[in-house]
Amino acid sequence: NHVPLREQNIIFIGFMGVGKTTIGQKVSERLNRTFIDIDEEISREFGMSIPEIFKEYGEKTFREKEKEYVEYYTNQKFQVISMGGGAFLQDEIRDMCLKSSIVFFLDMTWESWKERIDILIDSRPVLQNRSMEEIEALFYERKDIYSAHHFRMEIDSGSSEEAADNIIGLLE
Ligand code: S3P
Repeated sequence: NHVPLREQNIIFIGFMGVGKTTIGQKVSERLNRTFIDIDEEISREFGMSIPEIFKEYGEKTFREKEKEYVEYYTNQKFQVISMGGGAFLQDEIRDMCLKSSIVFFLDMTWESWKERIDILIDSRPVLQNRSMEEIEALFYERKDIYSAHHFRMEIDSGSSEEAADNIIGLLE
């Protein structure tokens, strides 16, 4: 589309816990824009944490909410949005994002990611009751889906500050 890069919505995708929220927040600050975290919006609406929503209402309800919020925010301008790692698996969400926004895939190797599992597991229902082999399979399955992006950034090493700087650099 014809909107200049700097004015477009920016959306961060990638596997659970790679830093979409942290990096997204920094990018939004540098661009003087507000920051939207889809998980946080849903959590606020329900007045509970994501694991509680999964438990009380089920994953299906959560996925429908994801779609509602993504639709709402991608219909606006100047948004910097981070979405939960599973949202992009929905065909409709993927289409909305790719049409309306610049989609940044924050990519990490499995070797780096697996070091984070202990700090993620309690807050990520999708990781619970799965073996490491199953989580690895999920990681690669989703990597294929995230390959539909506009920009990709490797974030194995370096700080979130550096990642944000590099992203801004790509937009200029
Ligand atoms: C999910 C990722 C989570 C959150 C929910 C489901 C997923 O967000 O939306 O637990 O299916 O990958 P993060 O990617 O921020 O961990």
